[in-house]
Amino acid sequence: MSEYVKVGTLEDFPPGEVRSRIINNDEQISVVSSDGKLYAVGGWCTHLKVSLRGSYVEHQWLWCWLHYSAFDMETGARMDGPAVDGIPVYDVRVDGEDVYVSAEAKTSDLKPISH
Ligand code: FES
Repeated sequence: MSEYVKVGTLEDFPPGEVRSRIINNDEQISVVSSDGKLYAVGGWCTHLKVSLRGSYVEHQWLWCWLHYSAFDMETGARMDGPAVDGIPVYDVRVDGEDVYVSAEAKTSDLKPISH
C-alpha cells in the first residue's frame, strides 16, 4: 500500500491555481483544485520539461503555460498540444482540513521526470 504525504491544507489550494509541492525528497508535483475536486499530477510538462506551475486549469484539464499542451488530471493522459506523453497522476486524500498525496504515482507507465 502506498504511503501518503501531507502537502498542505484545503486553504492552500484555491480553485484554478496550480500549486507545486515536493514529495519523495525531490519529486515536484502539481496540486490543483478544480470543480470542487483536488487533483495531484506530475510537476513537469512532458514536452520541453518545464514546470507546470503557472499553467491554466479548465475543469479537469491542465494546460501547459508554454505551448498549451493539455493533460487530463484524472488520468494523466495528454489531450492536446505538442506533448506526446502524459503526466503521472497521484491519489489525493483529505482528512479534515489536511490534504495528502500518495507517494507513488497511480499511473505506473508514466514515470515522474527527475531533475
Ligand atoms: S513545454 Fe509544455 S507544451 Fe511545450
